[in-house]
Amino acid sequence: MNFLVTGGAGFIGYHVCERLLREGHAVWVLDDLNPFYDPKIKQANLHDLQSLAKPFTFVHGDLTDRASLDELLGSARFDQIIHLAGRAGVRLSLEQPALYQRVNVEGTANLLPPRFTA
Ligand SMILES: NC(=O)c1ccc[n+]([C@@H]2O[C@H](COP(=O)([O-])OP(=O)(O)OC[C@H]3O[C@@H](n4cnc5c(N)ncnc54)[C@H](O)[C@@H]3O)[C@@H](O)[C@H]2O)c1
Repeated sequence: MNFLVTGGAGFIGYHVCERLLREGHAVWVLDDLNPFYDPKIKQANLHDLQSLAKPFTFVHGDLTDRASLDELLGSARFDQIIHLAGRAGVRLSLEQPALYQRVNVEGTANLLPPRFTA
């Protein structure tokens, strides 16, 4: 099957992608590689996934960029979307509530079928 994994360069997403690829699925990752923690860790995760030599596509992009997201969703027939992109951290969410609202709430809504977001 074709899987889109948002946040696939992150901690949980990386392990999900690795499992899916080893099981023979095709995987696309959408991740903005933001510096919430050292992006080199995320780059290393992507490198590991690429080195498996399985059908893997990385898209460097932001879930909240609706136009780019629509382009990605139109570029392949995804059987399932696993949504793991998000901003974590309760303390930081209190310092930057608008960012957390935009990514975690609006970003999630961007992935829902249009009938739910109108
Ligand atoms: N790790 C845990 O113990 C845990 C527990 C409960 C819930 N969660 C939630 O599960 C999800 C994944 O957790 P994780 O530990 O893998 O976090 P993580 O920070 O390692 O991974 C999240 C990934 O999402 C990406 N991302 C963030 N905003 C993005 C955006 N706007 N567009 C595209 N990509 C974006 C980041 O670059 C990162 O690679 C998060 O929503 C987190 O809050 C995690």
